[in-house]
Amino acid sequence: MKIVVTGALGHIGSRLVRHLPDHFPGAEIVLVDDMSTQRYPALFDLPASGRYRFIEGDVTRLDLAPLLAGAAAVVQLAAITDATRSFDRKDEVEQNNFHATRQIAEACLKAGVPLIHPSSTSVYGTQNEVVDEECGPDELAPQSPYAECKLKEEALLAEMGKSGLRFITCRFGTIFGTSPGMRFHTAVNKFCWQAVMGLPLTVWTTAYDQKRPYLDLGDCVRAVAHIIGTGLFDGRIHNVLTANCTVRQIVDAIRVHVPDLEVGFVDARIMNQLSYEVANQRFRSSGFEFQGSVAAGIEDTIRLLRGANRS
Ligand SMILES: NC(=O)c1ccc[n+]([C@@H]2O[C@H](COP(=O)([O-])OP(=O)(O)OC[C@H]3O[C@@H](n4cnc5c(N)ncnc54)[C@H](O)[C@@H]3O)[C@@H](O)[C@H]2O)c1
Repeated sequence: MKIVVTGALGHIGSRLVRHLPDHFPGAEIVLVDDMSTQRYPALFDLPASGRYRFIEGDVTRLDLAPLLAGAAAVVQLAAITDATRSFDRKDEVEQNNFHATRQIAEACLKAGVPLIHPSSTSVYGTQNEVVDEECGPDELAPQSPYAECKLKEEALLAEMGKSGLRFITCRFGTIFGTSPGMRFHTAVNKFCWQAVMGLPLTVWTTAYDQKRPYLDLGDCVRAVAHIIGTGLFDGRIHNVLTANCTVRQIVDAIRVHVPDLEVGFVDARIMNQLSYEVANQRFRSSGFEFQGSVAAGIEDTIRLLRGANRS
């Protein structure tokens, strides 16, 4: 069995590629990354149980056919992922992210290989209390060029599905939890960093009591293995998230470890007045159980960082 992971050195990929050999013993795991984010440590100490092959390259330029030949699945994680900064890099995000997904989807279609496409719950923005995958267009309100691009990729794949592409789109919640290729742009990780470093937590003014969906990184990589193992390439969108919670709940969970943390409020371009929960029933009904928790993820993250500032 061969599994191709593009963007493999990133936050999700670096944890995923360590998990796959446990789930699929003996599988060949092809890692592709263009090193644009310099996550070299993601390649350190890969488990001896894995049959890895790393290819350095930009997926929008690589000849993908030989890489995909005979693969059981492609997990397409290659993307520019800093949503807040995507306002200043709209063209670059579109150029990289949309084209990466399109090139890979076209290569998958040609090779008959199924594709796992990570979208994001940041495409939602609803007045309702709960939103699911069947929501109308009025409940989709991407707040950044990054999220707009995700919707465009989703539409592209839905169209290609009609020509025979086998795929699943996963709208991942905001990831929390640790990995060798970890990044700190996103809420929970960033707040843990700030708390340990003695900095005020930069909470968006409107966000404190708004509910949003979060995904434990352990759940995320198990979800990917579940999809490959069960062949859940149903051409549909699935919300994949561990829990919906408010920033206040996240801050309270961090305060357990850093009692004197300070909260500072800031304005950001990605803000709205909406509070909503995202339903994960569709993915759970495929037989998947979410096991992570925000409290445990925060504890792990703080443990990882703690040594950097013990004063
Ligand atoms: N982390 C989250 O909270 C989250 C939530 C929802 C969706 N997602 C999606 O999951 C995917 C992976 O996210 P992540 O958190 O691991 O991101 P990341 O930024 O940590 O990793 C992305 C990796 O892709 C590589 N890359 C970028 N462009 C490339 C290209 N053209 N060719 C080859 N490699 C390239 C980068 O070097 C990096 O290692 C992304 O599509 C992201 O939008 C992430």
